[in-house]
Amino acid sequence: MSRAPLPLVVFVSGSGSNLQAILDAIADGRLDAEVRLVVSNKPGVRALERAAAAGVPTRVRSHRDFPSREAFDEELAKLARDAFASDAGRGLVVLAGFMRLLTKGFLDAFPHRVVNIHPALLPSFPGTRAQQQALDYGVAITGCTVHLVDAGTDTGRVLAQAAVPVLPGDTEQALSARVLRREHELLPLVLQWLATGRLRVVQGRPLYDGVTPAVGVEPA
Ligand code: GRF
Repeated sequence: MSRAPLPLVVFVSGSGSNLQAILDAIADGRLDAEVRLVVSNKPGVRALERAAAAGVPTRVRSHRDFPSREAFDEELAKLARDAFASDAGRGLVVLAGFMRLLTKGFLDAFPHRVVNIHPALLPSFPGTRAQQQALDYGVAITGCTVHLVDAGTDTGRVLAQAAVPVLPGDTEQALSARVLRREHELLPLVLQWLATGRLRVVQGRPLYDGVTPAVGVEPA
């Protein structure tokens, strides 16, 4: 039985290379999804150009124009709700380099339907500059995590992780680039699992059917 592509709304704040990875995976037939809308909290960012080049509608809403986090998030929720209007409860909000924390109000509007990509192996190194945190700590392996979003900072349930080595002499820039390459593989892959039902989220918990959440790691 063929099913409709998984509708996505992608929130961005910057370069949008993870958005590009999603768009490329859709164009290549590796991801059965459709990006309905890209929302940026910053004007003029590269992510908006990438969306426009792919023919995806965009909206810019600056948090600075709203009186509170709640008011800003209510506007974001309205945009996402409208984009998913025809999908009867289906569809995911994907945070791809979105540099704002979402409030409980937003998350309650899309229960277990908001996913984020983080450039470290959570619960290590949450928050900003995760790659520099990994270098400062001196770990030998870091990576990236796709996780459900809750009201904490990078604390939601892990859906999948991929490992990346830290090399002697690494700079934040070099390590970030190496992690980013893995992010570009991991995020579309996990979205495809969700699109096909090989990964389902049941009462907030991931259930895997024939896929393993440790991506690129040889089973013992
Ligand atoms: C990525 O490293 C992502 O994990 C983090 O912010 C960065 C965004 O990069 N949350 P891009 O905008 O997708 O290029």
